[in-house]
Amino acid sequence: MKIGVFDSGLGGLVITKAFVEKMPEYDYFYYGDSKHLPYGEKTSGHILAYTLDAMRYMIKNDCKIIIIACNTATSIALRYIQQRFLPAEALDIKVLGVVIPTVEVAIENKAQKVGVIATTATVRSHIYQTELHKLKANLQVTEVAAPKLVPAIEGNDFFKAKTACKELSENFKDCDSLILGCTHYPLVKAFFREELPEVKVVSQDELMAEKLKNYLYRHPEIEKYLSKNKNYKFEVSKLNRHAQIVAAQLFAEAKIEERQG
Ligand code: DGL
Repeated sequence: MKIGVFDSGLGGLVITKAFVEKMPEYDYFYYGDSKHLPYGEKTSGHILAYTLDAMRYMIKNDCKIIIIACNTATSIALRYIQQRFLPAEALDIKVLGVVIPTVEVAIENKAQKVGVIATTATVRSHIYQTELHKLKANLQVTEVAAPKLVPAIEGNDFFKAKTACKELSENFKDCDSLILGCTHYPLVKAFFREELPEVKVVSQDELMAEKLKNYLYRHPEIEKYLSKNKNYKFEVSKLNRHAQIVAAQLFAEAKIEERQG
């Protein structure tokens, strides 16, 4: 069985790349719901429905463990999936998100004043503030939504993305840490690091692979089901040229296919 990685778009590819670099032996199935992108500007009801559909599709495609490499879907749908969907439909499958591992790293970094930049839906959920405060109650948290950033990245408009990053950085000048709370943002992390040289930028492509490796080590009852043929499969709900180019850049022989059925 495979490790599944789900996102609405390119962010999941970046996280898959990090997994493959650290643990190349496993079989992976990346699925991006590009048809419904951006999730970050959708209602909670839509985000939940799209994420549930993706979970069913990935389970049908033999995923034993699925990483929801999308902060928006994690914020809105993960709890429902773990508490309701899996017990009812797929008891032997594990689904994990990206928010808790990210918050843990920010706390390990001894953050005091944390900035969070994320999609509108993630900020609306206040999941980062809630989870950060569970670990450290007196932390100062500033959450800012960046509705323009994902469309610019998906549209391959890095000039627009850079301008947006520069404007957004103004909110975090007095923070000691900045969580990039969207898996698309690793693609523009250099812009934030350039604007905020004194701030520790927490980027999920740099932390998720270690967290997953550790999880699999601690859960041999799941790991033993994972096949190790270095088979990497990439699918999206709607094929687009830019995703094909990014996939080819990240994975030498990657072929992204459109979902059938
Ligand atoms: N990459 C997703 C996230 O981590 C969001 C992209 C979108 O808005 O669809 O939140």
